[in-house]
Amino acid sequence: MAVVELTVCRLCARSRPDIWQTLARLRTAHPNELHIVELDCMAACDDVPAIMIEYDYYPRVTPQQLIELIESRLKAIAAS
Ligand code: FES
Repeated sequence: MAVVELTVCRLCARSRPDIWQTLARLRTAHPNELHIVELDCMAACDDVPAIMIEYDYYPRVTPQQLIELIESRLKAIAAS
């Protein structure tokens, strides 16, 4: 089974309850397909909340964008 790796800054994500709750929902929805890496800082302090999906960087994501990015990445993997 393919796994999508999502990297976030734990400190910045926790400062945004909407992002933190979205991460929790995604983790629950995709327990085996989503691996969330939490860093203490991902050197993206000017782009909060920023994420990385694999090696792709996304600055200033909204909760809805985060969901769409993860869902589309999971669909692409499932279709391949
Ligand atoms: S402290 Fe969050 S990206 Fe730097």
